[in-house]
Amino acid sequence: MIISMNTVFTELDHINTLHEAVRREMSEKRLSHVVSVAKTAFTICTLLTLSEEETKKTVTASYLHDITKEKDKLWHYEFCNQHGIILSDDDKRADEVLHQITGAPYAKKVLPDYVTPTVYGAISKHCTGGVNMNIYEKIVFLADYIEPTRTNEACKSLNHFFFNECYDGNIRKHLDKAVLLAYDNTVRYLNEKGAFVHPSTLLGREDIIKSLNLERKI
Ligand SMILES: [Fe+2]
Ligand SMILES: [Fe+2]
Repeated sequence: MIISMNTVFTELDHINTLHEAVRREMSEKRLSHVVSVAKTAFTICTLLTLSEEETKKTVTASYLHDITKEKDKLWHYEFCNQHGIILSDDDKRADEVLHQITGAPYAKKVLPDYVTPTVYGAISKHCTGGVNMNIYEKIVFLADYIEPTRTNEACKSLNHFFFNECYDGNIRKHLDKAVLLAYDNTVRYLNEKGAFVHPSTLLGREDIIKSLNLERKI
């Protein structure tokens, strides 16, 4: 079944389970962000006319994407140690990235039946992006950036671009363009702060430029 624009978010039968699982793990503020990401992802799924099953996977990953965001650095390091996860030197230089590495395996422990390989992959790339992102990974990555509770001007203007400026009617290509703009903004923001840019972000950006076949400077 295709999810139509008339299907409401709360009709998805697993929302309550997801909500209860993440509510225990985070502050009210982060919970609002997570719900907003899930609703934004749901709307993107309807625009892309994804099936109910595809939409469920995307919404599940969106709900769970920040499940370890409020854990401290020591917790992330211990979790990785206990679960045989090797952090690269680049991962260790980017504290913000730790929660995308621990998020998927932690979510799988909390809700094993919900964290399919698709969901796992989308949680694992939501922060940095990466090469060869599938449609679910792109949607969660973009929804995290443009969800409407974000107050940053770059996020707000990308939200406007995605939802209001699809002139050629090719919604999948439009999604790729928005993902590229999210990469651009992230790289610019980190450069301005003098912060480390994770290689997965740079490689993901180059990858989407190639797939869009745009003539622009990498
Ligand atoms: Fe995150
Ligand atoms: Fe997030």
